[in-house]
Order: sequence, then C-alpha cells, then structure tokens
Amino acid sequence: MSISFEILEEDIFGRSGRLKVGEKIIKTPALLPVVNPHLPLITPAEMKSMGVGALITNAYIFYRSAEFREPALLRGLHEVLGFDGIIMTDSGSFQLSVYGDVEVSNRDTLLFQRSIGSDIIVPLDIPTHPDTSREQTEKEMEITMERLREATDILGPGAPLAAPIQGGSFPDLREQAGRMAGEMGFTFTPIGAVVPLMESYRYEDLVRVVMAAKKGIPSSACVHLFGAGHPVMFALAVAMGCDLFDSAAYALYAKEGRYLTTHGSKKLAELSELPCSCEVCRCHSADEMRASPEKIRLLARHNLIVTLTEISRIRQAISDGVLWELVDERCRSHPRLLRGYRTLLSYTEELETRDRVSKRRFFYRGDESCRRTEVLRYQQSIHRFLVGTRVLVTFDRLPPGGVPDYDTVLLFRPPFGPYPVELKETFPIGQCELPEWDEEMVVTGCKGIRALIDANPGSTVTVRCGSEWSAIVAMELPEVTIE
Ligand code: GUN
Ligand code: ZN
Repeated sequence: MSISFEILEEDIFGRSGRLKVGEKIIKTPALLPVVNPHLPLITPAEMKSMGVGALITNAYIFYRSAEFREPALLRGLHEVLGFDGIIMTDSGSFQLSVYGDVEVSNRDTLLFQRSIGSDIIVPLDIPTHPDTSREQTEKEMEITMERLREATDILGPGAPLAAPIQGGSFPDLREQAGRMAGEMGFTFTPIGAVVPLMESYRYEDLVRVVMAAKKGIPSSACVHLFGAGHPVMFALAVAMGCDLFDSAAYALYAKEGRYLTTHGSKKLAELSELPCSCEVCRCHSADEMRASPEKIRLLARHNLIVTLTEISRIRQAISDGVLWELVDERCRSHPRLLRGYRTLLSYTEELETRDRVSKRRFFYRGDESCRRTEVLRYQQSIHRFLVGTRVLVTFDRLPPGGVPDYDTVLLFRPPFGPYPVELKETFPIGQCELPEWDEEMVVTGCKGIRALIDANPGSTVTVRCGSEWSAIVAMELPEVTIE
C-alpha cells in the first residue's frame, strides 16, 4: 500500500506518529476537516493556513454534482478544492443510504475516486447500524469484506485504500473484521458506523466496539474513527489507539448556532462571554458575534480552531506521557462520557501491554486512577522484589537507622503498594502526586502488599499502618500482623 504509518511515541494505546501518503506527510493524531464543496464555511486554502494537512470530502457529492463532477475529473480534486495536502475521499456509503437516488457500485466509486486524484480512497462499505441483528450484521460485514477484496483487485495492491471496519455492536465481528483487513494488507483502517453511538452518547458501547476492532487490527495500522468530530471525546478515542478523526461537527454545530469547547458545546445565544483565546473570540464579544452577518462562519472558524487545538494538546500529552490525566479531565465533562472512561478502565490488562514504561507524572484524580495501567503494571512487578523472611511494610517514613527485627523494610505508596527505598525516585513511585490518602487508594495499595505476600510464601509480612488505616488493612489482608 502506498499509505505508510510510523509510530513515534506511545501512551496507553495512544500513539503519535506520521502518516505518509505518497509523498505527503502529516503528524498524527490528526483531524481531517470535512469539506463540502457546495458550501465551504471555511475554504480548504484557509484550512491550510490554520495548519490542516489533510482533509476529507465526499466522493459521492462530486459524483452526482452537475457543477463539480466534470471539473474534478478534468483538473483533479486538489485543484478544484485549492488544497495541496492529503485529500481523503469517502465513498459516501452513509449518504447513499439516505439519498440513494443515484446508484453507485463499488467499482464505480473506486474508479471515480482514483480518476479525481484522491489520496486516500474508501470502498463502498456498508455501515451497519449498531442495533442490527447478528445475522444481518454478519451478512453486511461479509459484503463489506468482499468489496475490500474487490477494491484491491480493481485498483491494484499499491493503491492508497482504506479498509472500513464494520461489524455492528458485536465485539467478535469487529475483531474479525479488523484481523481480516490486516491479513489483506491494509495499513489504513477506519472504524465505521459509530456515528449513531456518539449521537446518542453511548460511549460505553463505543469503547467496546473500538477496543474490539483494535484487538483485530494490526497495531501498526493507522486507525481513523469515522465521523468523530467533537473534541470532548478525542482524548478517550486516542487512548484506545485511534489516530485520525474527521470533523463535520465544526460546521454542523456552527449552522445550529453552537459554540464548541473541549468540555461540551454551548448555544451562542446563551453566552455572555466567549471563553476562548482564538483569534475569533479575541476580536469579537459574544454580542458582536451574535449580531454579525458572518456569524456562522465565525462560529465555524472558532469551532475548527478549538478542535485542532485539542488535537495538538493530545499530541503533547502523548509526548509527556500524561494522556490518562487528559482522558480523566475530558471524560468528567459528561456523565455518559465518564461511563465510557470507566468502561475503558475495565480493559486495563490489555491496555497495559502497550503502555509506555516511564511517564512525566502520575496525578491521582480519584478512584478511577486506581485502575490505571501504571498501577497494574507496578503490582505485576512486585514479585521481583528480593525480600528476607521477616518483612515490614511501613506506611510511615523510614526510621533512620533501620528497623531491628526485620530483614527487609519496604515503604508504602498507595495506590501502588510496597516499594523498596531504591525505587523512591523512579516511575511511578517518584512521579506520583497524591492528595490526602483515601480509602480506595489504600485498598488498591493493599493489593500490592497481597502480590508481595503471594510471591514470598516463606516470608512473614507485618504492616505498620497506624490506627487510621488498620481497619482497612485488616479487612484486605486478614493474615498479616498489624503494628
Ligand atoms: N462516515 C461515518 N461512518 C462511516 C462508515 O461507517 N463508512 C463510511 N464509508 N463513511 C462513514
Ligand atoms: Zn474561539
């Protein structure tokens, strides 16, 4: 495939990398704004000046447009749109199911997309609605997979093809679709038919679907989340290993008078202030924006800037190793997102396998932090500690001069557990910032002590925890001596 993807840094399942299509390169995670040639609220040239390196448009609009079809065939998409970056064209499977007045076959759309010079071509997949029966979902997935095979036959093995991953709400089908796409050699895999989940705030289902697809998709493939454009959920999606988003939201919301923020959207009509530092919001008051004849364009511009800024922030978070902190912050914006976040935390064992070794910090942000990958990984390493037969785990500072009667003295850092003083400065013990200890944190730390006990059946472990925590320790570790 002439699409190649290089991963540079990782955090959780998230990656920052480089997507190369032909000779064009963009940094990922990236946002591909959706461009509708009939009513561009922001022109592709303006987008370029805003730092956009790739955009997406709908091949179906060009295919059926009296105005744009011939120019696109004659001069190519890049010239018609005035954009020399990466242009991905969607086959318009979604639109076909809505306005299906013009029949388009898989072959038609593939050849058309190639003729207009698309950089990334999408076959005619079937976006199966998440509430579809298993039988129907299987049937439609089979058709999608067959069309992917057909696409490589028609366009050849080097063609810049995307392989949409379908499979409805069935995790095993999503996984299978991902695996098959990888086996067919696809390096670019959009996860499809998730728009209905996002529109109805079904973030738990979204997490299950994406995590299942990711299980099957080779980790080296670039993963696009089709139709995800609200910046509030980007961090969550990136943490699952999604690399690209396409946003029509910036324009759709603008048309509805909605102002995007990274923690939700607001009605411009209800704002008395513009809580944003972008050029639009610095040059206009809320009243001026409402009264402006350019209101929709101004809103679209603000919305797109906010969306692009969030993507930059996520790339920086990956580089710093603080993506969990960002996910935590964003997902507290809406209770349904918090549910999605908690669902993601139920995949910690899987996520841990790819998470990076060292990070800049670990900020404890509540119970959810106890289920982070770093805690699990730390506790899985405890069996490697070399300890004597009489072990003390102390919740206090290490007394100067050691503790007589014990061969080994370990300190305690919740939610991780016991640690030898030599690990005091290393990740995660040294980089972890805690508020005052709470019950959940200490209960989780006791699991670390449990790992120590299980790994050293010949040792006796005593815990010096003070009266404040003794009841919890006694409950969690009934066999230990408490001092
Ligand atoms: N846009 C949003 N969802 C989808 C999908 O499942 N397939 C395609 N081709 N485009 C989409
Ligand atoms: Zn703004």
